[in-house]
Amino acid sequence: MTTTLPLDPIETASRDELAALQLTRLKWSLTHAYENSPVYRRKFDEAGVHPSELQSLSDLARFPFTTKKDLRDNYPFGMFAVPQEQVSRIHASSGTTGKPTVVGYTARDIDTWANLVARSIRAAGARRGDKVHVSYGYGLFTGGLGAHYGAERAGLTVIPFGGGQTEKQVQLIQDFRPDIIMVTPSYMLSIADEMERQGLDPAKSSLRVGIFGAEPWTNEMRSAIEQRAGITAVDIYGLSEVMGPGVACECAETQDGPTIWEDHFYPEIIDPETGEVLPEGEFGELVFTSLTKEALPIVRYRTRDLTRLLPGTARTMRRMEKITGRSDDMMIIRGVNVFPTQIEELLLKQHALAPHYQVVLTKEGPLDVMTLNVEPASDAAEATGEPIRAGQALAYDIKALVGVTAIVNVLPVNGIERSVGKARRIVDKRFS
Ligand code: DLL
Repeated sequence: MTTTLPLDPIETASRDELAALQLTRLKWSLTHAYENSPVYRRKFDEAGVHPSELQSLSDLARFPFTTKKDLRDNYPFGMFAVPQEQVSRIHASSGTTGKPTVVGYTARDIDTWANLVARSIRAAGARRGDKVHVSYGYGLFTGGLGAHYGAERAGLTVIPFGGGQTEKQVQLIQDFRPDIIMVTPSYMLSIADEMERQGLDPAKSSLRVGIFGAEPWTNEMRSAIEQRAGITAVDIYGLSEVMGPGVACECAETQDGPTIWEDHFYPEIIDPETGEVLPEGEFGELVFTSLTKEALPIVRYRTRDLTRLLPGTARTMRRMEKITGRSDDMMIIRGVNVFPTQIEELLLKQHALAPHYQVVLTKEGPLDVMTLNVEPASDAAEATGEPIRAGQALAYDIKALVGVTAIVNVLPVNGIERSVGKARRIVDKRFS
């Protein structure tokens, strides 16, 4: 019996076959949105477009964007396109301010989602008989339940741990010997820290594959986690408004950016300023249109995630480059645009420092001040004074390579707040 899991036939279809399927599905999706959601009907009417005008995939550019504001304005269920009795699940993303963004799924949507997360887990290198430890939070957040249903659908054994209780996570990883872990990359670091605190070597755990997402993380972070935990780390991408985890996932054989499951989601890259669709390969804001979603069809949803589209490698479907950051997380320090991922890349070169970090923004008169809090790699490193020198080297690199001045503050070990889900990389105190 082979241990690998079979691909869906569409994963190896030709580009032409895929494009034909996308066009048929896109016509259905726009018509469904227009006919069954008064909000979409109004938006399309106001823009002077009708679903019947879509003759080719590029015609999509004539349709209006959907934003988080549309979902907020129609809180909680105003954009749903099916009667409530057909909605079998609700999820919500908390957001930092105001009301959450609410999303809904029919039984068929849940089924599609499970299939796509199963496909993602197979792409990540799952084998028959694997056990999957899920540390994404369960509840309204799509991470836990999304991962859970997908792992079950892939025919694997699920350990539905959820976030938090790090000590216990480590104990159960020791005892249950999972092969795969699904968790945010930042929380994976906390789990590895806890293993070491308990005198265990993370590289010797049973884990073989990590499926990490829900927040930006760099290739430098990937290498650091892979080496430390002795695993293959792949990037899974998704967002509640479009479905949840599993909109795109990296393939273990190439690890070159998430493959977008294009048979269900049509991607575009736009100029965030003008809204214009950019040519293939250019950097900009990622926009998604759902092709099969029933309860909440999403038309040209502006993700605010910045990346570029790349041709397929391990699959015919296109890839997205690892996310640089969200436009909301772009800091403008004295006129220079900075993303936390740029800081992360440079921090990971300093081996006397831990990979945990947080940027604090303050004002000094009219000027922005950026303080970067970091930590020594270990108590032993702290005793050598090496982390202080590494902090100075890091400040130098940030000035030379990013072009901004950062005050690098080396805190004691464990000095930086830890999160059990998405890490908070920026604390903005400029306006408080
Ligand atoms: O974070 C869904 C998810 C759960 C994805 C578990 C992967 C794993 P939201 O809470 O709605 O949904 O947040 C979506 O998180 O727009 C990105 O800014 C960010 N994000 C998600 N995956 C990645 C990733 C889930 N792989 C928002 N790389 C998205 C970078 C990511 N950013």
